[in-house]
Amino acid sequence: MLSSADNDLLTRTGTGTAMGEYFRRFWQPVALSSELPEADCTPLRVKVLGEDLLAFRATDGQVGLIDPRCAHRGADLFFGRNEEGGIRCVYHGWKYDVSGKCVELPNVPPGSGYHDNMSIAAYPTREFGDMVWAYMGPREHMPPELPQLEVGLMPPGRRFVTKRLQQCNWAQSMEGALDTAHFSFLHMSAPAMAGNDAMTAAADESRIRWLRNDPLPRFDIAQHEVGFVIGGARNADAGTLYWRITQFMLPAHSITPSSMPGETYYGYTWVPIDDHSCWIYVYAWHPEHDIAAAERARYAAGGYGQFAELGPGHVPLRNRGNDYLIDRGEQKLRSFTGVRGIAEQDAMAQDSQGPIVDRSREHLSPTDVGIVRFRRVMLDAVKGLAQGLQPPACGLPRSYRMRAGGAVASASLNFEQVMLQRFGSVSGKVDG
Ligand code: FES
Ligand SMILES: [Fe+2]
Repeated sequence: MLSSADNDLLTRTGTGTAMGEYFRRFWQPVALSSELPEADCTPLRVKVLGEDLLAFRATDGQVGLIDPRCAHRGADLFFGRNEEGGIRCVYHGWKYDVSGKCVELPNVPPGSGYHDNMSIAAYPTREFGDMVWAYMGPREHMPPELPQLEVGLMPPGRRFVTKRLQQCNWAQSMEGALDTAHFSFLHMSAPAMAGNDAMTAAADESRIRWLRNDPLPRFDIAQHEVGFVIGGARNADAGTLYWRITQFMLPAHSITPSSMPGETYYGYTWVPIDDHSCWIYVYAWHPEHDIAAAERARYAAGGYGQFAELGPGHVPLRNRGNDYLIDRGEQKLRSFTGVRGIAEQDAMAQDSQGPIVDRSREHLSPTDVGIVRFRRVMLDAVKGLAQGLQPPACGLPRSYRMRAGGAVASASLNFEQVMLQRFGSVSGKVDG
């Protein structure tokens, strides 16, 4: 449970809010690279942390992220012409480069100070892992490097990156990823139909059985320099435990708990659009080999594991507006939710908590230990920044090369020993 004041602190990320200032100290994805597919292509409206912005790819391939309002009289540069080296306002022809500098003002006489000084706000961008990242904080605090998430360090053939719209506040969606206990319900088939789970194709039968039979996993958490790793242990077969281990990295990255050794890894990055919606960047990567064409096609088609079935604009086909196409017959007979797709089931549960869940009215249980830790870490960090403490994680981009996933281990091993056995480090950090 949180006080209303702390709930506001955790969830509000607009300009001038404490959490908004905190998020702005980190590099964050603002678009998929594929949304700006070539030089001088159509610009893209983006909204990040409540700010309406415009992204465009210039002639040299660089991406600009600018205030879309023309400095002259405020026409929207979305309708501008993306020309040689900049975007030109079609109203009177003022032209801006990726740094926001106004490089041509055809209706202003030469010699005017306008020619030297005119500019609009712009944020620095970089591309990494098929995503366009931006830094929206004070320039003097700009981290030198992007967080080195493993997905971005892979050759392109070894990763698949997409995004989807989530129609609720970023923090409750993030909490959904840290609360892995819900898998024993939300993603299961109806009890009479064991074996027909939505995810049976993605995991073997025994894993489903362990998930189904033990709805009360025991959690351990290990703090690390950019967040924490949480392991949930369920009873498995013959003196073993089934561990599902999840990463949380500041401010809003996570790696999922399902991947067994040798399998593909999956991760998410949440980026608030405004306080009632966010983008979830969703990615898969395999450290050792390319992702096969068939698997890639399955991800792209969605309705499978972490990937939702998407319509235009990366909006899931089953969404808040159509009650996720819930099928009550299916819900009675086949699946717990009657909603198709793990990603869509998550979205339904998280959106249904409200645009911003009221955490002053909840009643937490022992399986919520991960979200309790998440809130404490975020609130401490944001209060620290408000007192002038720089977020240490911003200066540790190389600590973001983390893994997470599943493990079956002897019940005699503790969490630390399981982490060492599964990932070679207590935190899940990969060397290199
Ligand atoms: S409003 Fe853009 S050039 Fe006049
Ligand atoms: Fe889930």
